[in-house]
Amino acid sequence: MTNEAVSRGNWDPGQYGRFRDERSRPFYDLAALVQPSPGMRVVDLGCGTGELTAWLHGELQAAETVGLDSSDPMLEKAAGFARPGLRFDREDIRMAPARYPEGFDLVFSNAALQWVTGHETLFAELVKLVRPGGQIAVQMPANQGVPHRLTAEVAQQEPFATALGGWVREDPVRDAVFYSRLLNDLGFVEQHVRLQIYPHVMESTHGAVEWLKGSLLTAYQARIPADLWPRYLEAYEAALLAVEGDRRPYFFPFPRVLLWGRRA
Ligand SMILES: C[S@@+](CC[C@H](N)C(=O)[O-])C[C@H]1O[C@@H](n2cnc3c(N)ncnc32)[C@H](O)[C@@H]1O
Repeated sequence: MTNEAVSRGNWDPGQYGRFRDERSRPFYDLAALVQPSPGMRVVDLGCGTGELTAWLHGELQAAETVGLDSSDPMLEKAAGFARPGLRFDREDIRMAPARYPEGFDLVFSNAALQWVTGHETLFAELVKLVRPGGQIAVQMPANQGVPHRLTAEVAQQEPFATALGGWVREDPVRDAVFYSRLLNDLGFVEQHVRLQIYPHVMESTHGAVEWLKGSLLTAYQARIPADLWPRYLEAYEAALLAVEGDRRPYFFPFPRVLLWGRRA
């Protein structure tokens, strides 16, 4: 499976937006790590619907902000936030260093780089986007919990395994120490790297299914034939209920890696 296919999900702005408050909290925690300076040039990699990109642009009073994404439905929403100094480009994250050789003062990415594999190589490439003295700020889910693990376990059962040709989504996100070392090795002389658990209390266990339908499950939805998709969802929910029970409320602790660095 190529990187391109990994990044392709069936992104649905409506489903993604269902947990808007919970999903935006880490964004604001990440933005708080950024050290503003006048007239910044900013790129938001995997900007999604653009609402948060627009907030960041205003908050930093940036001279120019580019929101970049490869999903047409997401970019259609984002277009509504464009204004002088803020634009949205259709591009793959991995092509960004080639497309913007002039670089940025801030390379920002919230909840997107988990869709791109090979993080050692990826970050080595993304450094090319960071101007000398510039900053990088990235947040990614560090999915270690039962609901995430079961998505792959169910995908390995029939008839899904055949439909997927044996494919399961491999999570490229590594532990926080890995990113700390990587930032150091890539020439970031200041850094802040942490693992943070976001405690979500869902109405019931079913809530976790709805949450993942807007994110991780999109990768499976993009590959499983449409007529089989409801069966996968049913099997996934049954597997989740079997392990976790039908809890009301359902506590869903969500670990995320937040990293920030400044280049020499
Ligand atoms: C979970 S959403 C996050 C959106 C936004 N950053 C936010 O915080 O709400 C992930 C976004 O990354 C985009 N994405 C995933 N892989 C990508 C790639 N290789 N190139 C460009 N965009 C990508 C998806 O299209 C999606 O809009």
